[in-house]
Amino acid sequence: MSFARLRRLRRTPALRALVRETQLSVDDLIYPLFVVEGENIKEEVPSMPGVYHFSLDRLDEEVGEAVHLGLKAVILFGVPRHKDEVGSEAYAEDGIVQRATRRIKEQYPDLVVIADTCLCQYTSHGHCGVVENGEVLNDPSLELLVKTAVSQAAAGADVIAPSNMMDGFVHAIRKGLDEAGYTHVPILSYAVKYASAFYGPFRDAAHSAPQFGDRKTYQMDPANAREALREARADVEQGADLLMVKPALAYLDIIRLLKEHFDLPVAAYNVSGEYSMVKAAAANGWIDERAVVMELLTGIKRAGADLILTYFAKDVARWLKGGE
Ligand code: PBG
Repeated sequence: MSFARLRRLRRTPALRALVRETQLSVDDLIYPLFVVEGENIKEEVPSMPGVYHFSLDRLDEEVGEAVHLGLKAVILFGVPRHKDEVGSEAYAEDGIVQRATRRIKEQYPDLVVIADTCLCQYTSHGHCGVVENGEVLNDPSLELLVKTAVSQAAAGADVIAPSNMMDGFVHAIRKGLDEAGYTHVPILSYAVKYASAFYGPFRDAAHSAPQFGDRKTYQMDPANAREALREARADVEQGADLLMVKPALAYLDIIRLLKEHFDLPVAAYNVSGEYSMVKAAAANGWIDERAVVMELLTGIKRAGADLILTYFAKDVARWLKGGE
């Protein structure tokens, strides 16, 4: 018997393109943006080269560029000036994310604006909920999250993305949105969010590191996969429209697991630490940034992600168009 000649289909670029199984598309990318109060601010995050804090007046240009490159969606993270025990700025009508959302939707009504719904950037203790005696309380946190989600929808957010990992948050937010008349606003649940060290640079960027303890009582243990199914199932039952896995690279098996078990679109968050590792190695000349990024994102898609949140979104959009 002769052996298989797999190289036949690898002989030319055209043949390889014909049999390529996974395509990255600009339509699948979600671009994260950090918005800050103040004026004329475009400040690079030191641990995330190429990622900036934008004041609203400087945001226009960045969003314009993203739209011009063909990106369809952004996700907004607010970095407020004022923090307090209960994260009031997260649900203030004139909060930074609410204002940014209104401004973007006025100029780019077709761009999908996703609002990250969490409290950690807004609380003085840096936890994602209400803290009492050193404990993060579940149900009292839900009320604040609902207020946050409703205020974001009122500002025009197209999608609500709760990331705080309190139990029952999808149910509470769905009910709150429906009662406020936002039945049409979908929920992208950070259903499976691990207590990961890869969030380090984001916490620098968003000034959201917990001031005591860690997030292990609400975010998942990186060792668990079956528990991811329970998390996702709970969110699906509560009315989630899309499911997210976060981070992405050390959790490709989880992406695949969700894809196989549920029929909702699956999003993967290529998080800050994953971005910074690539940037640091590339800056040292140790890897080819473009090739590595394309390989990583293709891997995330191949694992089963329908959507990818990535700080590389603009670069990838440019590369897909054939630019440098
Ligand atoms: C907070 C939140 C985190 C990220 C997005 N929303 C991190 C955290 O739990 O501290 C991380 C994103 C990234 O690392 O890029 N609720």
